[in-house]
Amino acid sequence: MTSGLAAQQPVPGPGSLLPRSWSHRLARRSAGQDGVLTGILALANATGVINFSGGFPDPSVFPTGVLAEITERLLRDDAGVAMQYAPSQGIQTTREAISDRLAESDGRRPGPDELMVTSGGIDAVTLIGRSMLDAGDVVVVEEPTYLGAIAGFAGFDARMRGVPVDDDGMCVDALAELLDGGLAVKVLYVIPEYQNPSGRTLSLSRRHALVELCRRHSVLIAEDVAYRELGFTGSPLPSLWSLAPEVVVQMGTFSKTFFPGVRLGWAAGPPEVVAALVVAKQNSDQCAGALGQRMIEAFLRGRHFDAQLVRARALYRARGEAMQAALAKHLPGLGTWTTPEGGFFSWLHLPGVDTTAMSAAARGVDVAYVPGAGFFAERIDNEHLRLSFSRVGEAEIDDGVARLAGVAAAARR
Ligand SMILES: Cc1ncc(COP(=O)(O)O)c(C=O)c1O
Repeated sequence: MTSGLAAQQPVPGPGSLLPRSWSHRLARRSAGQDGVLTGILALANATGVINFSGGFPDPSVFPTGVLAEITERLLRDDAGVAMQYAPSQGIQTTREAISDRLAESDGRRPGPDELMVTSGGIDAVTLIGRSMLDAGDVVVVEEPTYLGAIAGFAGFDARMRGVPVDDDGMCVDALAELLDGGLAVKVLYVIPEYQNPSGRTLSLSRRHALVELCRRHSVLIAEDVAYRELGFTGSPLPSLWSLAPEVVVQMGTFSKTFFPGVRLGWAAGPPEVVAALVVAKQNSDQCAGALGQRMIEAFLRGRHFDAQLVRARALYRARGEAMQAALAKHLPGLGTWTTPEGGFFSWLHLPGVDTTAMSAAARGVDVAYVPGAGFFAERIDNEHLRLSFSRVGEAEIDDGVARLAGVAAAARR
């Protein structure tokens, strides 16, 4: 009789050298991966669920009308470039358009060898890992931080160390203690604005302190500005890259401000670092898609980007405020939460609740969120969860938080 397990496995043919299962053949770095992100992306088009799960932009702000015209023109007049392979550093005119944009948004224009086009934000994380990290090198991250970056750096066998975050962002004093204590850090990964997952922003004084500290210890700062342009009011604080371009690689993405289907972003940093990232790109996907590059170039040059940001900021601000109102209405006594001034996320602390276990109960009432545990690189923490308000309408936000409060009350230990 065959066991149930054996019955699920492919049976090798006579004389075959194939193993009965591939799982023991996986690389160590793959064997440890738990697929949280895959689970989040699987919900990208889910219906019937109030989905506070992924950091998805809302399709209502996708600039479809303008892009229909741009794309038609590109296919008609520009197919030789737009439908062709592109240079690994990115199409020169696209780089110039992004550089002009950075001159406006950050007050600093990268030189021609200080900027490259990437295939989105996570691509930049992978390129930094590929070009900067040997096994065992230390990467410091905020606790909590974007789980895609944790997985990305860990994939290069980096040793991940966490630094706590408070209402002013990363606690730079705690980082100074680690560095002054002799910890050799290769890369510091930080999300200064409307952080994923906490929604917090690094204060101006800490920005200055952080770049000074990293200059002193020769630590490369990988600054992730995924949500920088999506503040609810006013303009953002100076980027770390604008304060210290000699120690910072800025990693940007157009996923949240343009559309993620295009898989497009940039890396701006010291020329020798950018040169290494370009070589790393040759050895991965070789180049970002040319069609997307020409689309964002035309979009920027046509001055559509600012109008797009105005629409997006207004939408996410209304939803961020609806989330705050719903939390204040339904959750008092059950937990505490952050108050983001931009971006997509609220971060909830539910003392005495295991938010990983609770997610099944939440799905039972058709609510999805991301349990907090995956956002911690070093610390074990099961009492937080991330709520993304970016793709949920205001009435649904209230309904979803009310359901969540019911589940949280029942889950309390
Ligand atoms: C902070 C942060 N960085 C990077 C990314 C990934 O960006 P992309 O989808 O362009 O790879 C995300 C997406 O959620 C993010 O939240």
